[in-house]
Amino acid sequence: MGDKSVLVIGGGGREHSLCLELNKSQNVSKVHCSPGNAGTAMIATNHQLSNSEVQSVVSLVKKLEVDLVVVGPEAPLCDGLADELNNIGVPCFGPTKELANLEGSKLYAKEIMSKVGVPTAGYHILSEDSDIDLALDDFSDNPWVVKRDVLAGGKGVVVTSNREEAKDFIQSSILSDGKVLLEEFLPGEEASMLVVMDGSDFVCLPASQDHKRAYDGDMGPNTGGMGAYCPAPVVTDEVKSKAVSRIVKPMHDYLSSLDIPYRGVLYVGLMITESGDPNVVEFNVRFGDPECQITLPLIESDIFELLHAASTDKLSSLEVKFSNMHTLTVVLAAEGYPANPIKGRKISGLQDSKVEGSWINHAGTGLNQNGDIISTGGRVLSCSAIGESLNDAAQLAYQLLEMIELEGSHYRTDIGFRAL
Ligand code: AMP
Ligand code: GLY
Repeated sequence: MGDKSVLVIGGGGREHSLCLELNKSQNVSKVHCSPGNAGTAMIATNHQLSNSEVQSVVSLVKKLEVDLVVVGPEAPLCDGLADELNNIGVPCFGPTKELANLEGSKLYAKEIMSKVGVPTAGYHILSEDSDIDLALDDFSDNPWVVKRDVLAGGKGVVVTSNREEAKDFIQSSILSDGKVLLEEFLPGEEASMLVVMDGSDFVCLPASQDHKRAYDGDMGPNTGGMGAYCPAPVVTDEVKSKAVSRIVKPMHDYLSSLDIPYRGVLYVGLMITESGDPNVVEFNVRFGDPECQITLPLIESDIFELLHAASTDKLSSLEVKFSNMHTLTVVLAAEGYPANPIKGRKISGLQDSKVEGSWINHAGTGLNQNGDIISTGGRVLSCSAIGESLNDAAQLAYQLLEMIELEGSHYRTDIGFRAL
């Protein structure tokens, strides 16, 4: 057992997954999490801060004297947490404030993509003086895609064939944000490619696919993600090789040439055309949630070594090995999610539910005064599993899920359907 300590920032399923995997590392003796959830409390020390200001996190980091900080969500990165940690010499897995704009500002992401020549949808930037009808005419062959230029927690994008709806969203976004992006619709199948990178190298993790719509058959409202599986067969070797040469390599060439290179994971949201050509739909500057929960378990190499190397520009000296197993996770969501999730309900069956090859990733969970585990968020937990085939993983994950009870909760019964 090594003597390293790590602080994971965040409190969702992704962070529970990071804590679980870091706990397995030969290098790590102590995992901290802030704020964490009921799941991380079982395997790490949770720290509640009175506010989420960067300075409060920096004070915690100094007090704990950790060897590595792994930032789960994008918000602290957009607020400059990595910059502050760089200043005090603490390795941070997550990019600087400037580069966090790749997720924080759709326009910034478009500018970088155009600078380095990455394939993505054509777009117009619209503001008060723009001729909205003319712009809508330009992309009228397909549904319209309208994107706010702010971090909007999954509510910043409207894809619609209804011209009035598109126009209304454009106008309200211009009113609130000053400008908005109207994007060309890209047909195809989506996949998530997570690329760990630093100033020296990049490592593509096995590609995955998540299910963003709330209900079976990709129906209903958009959510943070109702389930995911890995690897995603739509990313064939050929697609991967195109994605690397056309997207990942040019992005890394640029991001590693900066004074402070990109250190962390770049989430490349791909739309793959029928002919197998990948386009970028979005960048995120963090692990996907729930993609993280099913990607990390397929990394056979030591997770601490990987995350620490990427935080200190040592990736090029690391050989990363992957398992050829399959993983799948199904999210259990609270009643009313995504619009108005009901919180505070007791979750039962957690202790007794054991299915070999499967595990629970806590997300929106906490403890009440009696010590019972209760729901505290929209996505409450997910049941994950690993198997020789995707089908095996799906069966195990659903078997586990059926043992858990939460009044009014719902989940999708078709996670992985595109590949099964
Ligand atoms: P984003 O936040 O940019 O990932 O957009 C949210 C979702 O909207 C994506 O996961 C896609 O399903 C869809 N989407 C975004 N941009 C496009 C596009 N240009 N063409 C088709 N669908 C898109
Ligand atoms: N699951 C999608 C995301 O994390 O952005």
